[in-house]
Amino acid sequence: MDITVKESREPEKIARLFDQHRGIPFTYLTNIPLVKMLSQLESFKIFVAEVDGEIVGCIHSLNYIYDCGYIGGLLVHKDFRKKGIGSRLLDAALNSLDARFVYLFVEEKNTAAVRLVEKRGFKRIYKRCRYIISTPLDRVSGSLRITSDTDWTTLKGCIGFKERNGVVNFGHYPVKMTEKAFEELKACNKILRWGSVIAVIESSYGFTIGDHLYAFNDYIVRNLQGIDTSRSIVEVNPFYTEPNLSDLVNMVNHLASLGEVHVKTYDGDPVASRLPLAGRIGALTMEYEKQGF
Ligand SMILES: CC(C)(COP(=O)(O)OP(=O)(O)OC[C@H]1O[C@@H](n2cnc3c(N)ncnc32)[C@H](O)[C@@H]1OP(=O)(O)O)[C@@H](O)C(=O)NCCC(=O)NCCS
Repeated sequence: MDITVKESREPEKIARLFDQHRGIPFTYLTNIPLVKMLSQLESFKIFVAEVDGEIVGCIHSLNYIYDCGYIGGLLVHKDFRKKGIGSRLLDAALNSLDARFVYLFVEEKNTAAVRLVEKRGFKRIYKRCRYIISTPLDRVSGSLRITSDTDWTTLKGCIGFKERNGVVNFGHYPVKMTEKAFEELKACNKILRWGSVIAVIESSYGFTIGDHLYAFNDYIVRNLQGIDTSRSIVEVNPFYTEPNLSDLVNMVNHLASLGEVHVKTYDGDPVASRLPLAGRIGALTMEYEKQGF
């Protein structure tokens, strides 16, 4: 069997492959509108596997900010699995990225996909967790104020830093907090502090695609046509010098005046898990570090 893996500029053909697998586990139909939308971006690439001119597999990649890249939308036709196609697609996506750190999301119970990406050298980082705050939480006492008074060494020593391997969720996609990224973000007022809470903040826009709420930042949104940017979201990735729920609540309430707040953290966060809200636990964030950067 002759299998070709190549770049494609035709998101409709991928839509068909996803459609054929409706109802089959780990087929994320949200990928159809998402890929159509993101294919407007220059740094977004689609790769397909073909057998006799028919698409039997696909994947996409995105060069993202702060030396990071993202891979998503991997699907191999059910009749063509276990033939090395998924691995070839993953290699094509990895090779297309000009980024030191590459991320993807995978459900922990998706054994086939977890094995595939681990075999290629991806490491498990953490399970994502998100809290959505659309109205301020009950006020708690405290006379502190928001500041930007912190440094890289303090952040690195925080509760949550090693648990996340320094990775935050920033405009939907993962970003590695290196010292360089930290300093750049601090200069843009995206590192904020309220007492014991140091947070990496992003201003994003909310979009409901399928049954999923995404928050994309300006890096993505400014290059998309005909997009409704009326839903402002403040993404908050919190770290803690000590576990103090009041400080987190006060920071969130302060930011709630700017828009809906999404606290993006890891499953097991000892402070955010005490918020009076249900958190949504999501997929595993997997990281691959490219050599030679
Ligand atoms: C996950 C998926 C893409 C794998 O594609 P594939 O073409 O079958 O993968 P490959 O043949 O390249 O397999 C590579 C490795 O993955 C692992 N793997 C693949 N299928 C597996 C399975 N059913 N059970 C356990 N491990 C599996 C194995 O380690 C395999 O290596 P080996 O063949 O040397 O044992 C495919 O099963 C699929 O499309 N699943 C549904 C969609 C999905 O889960 N996408 C990933 C979302 S993150």
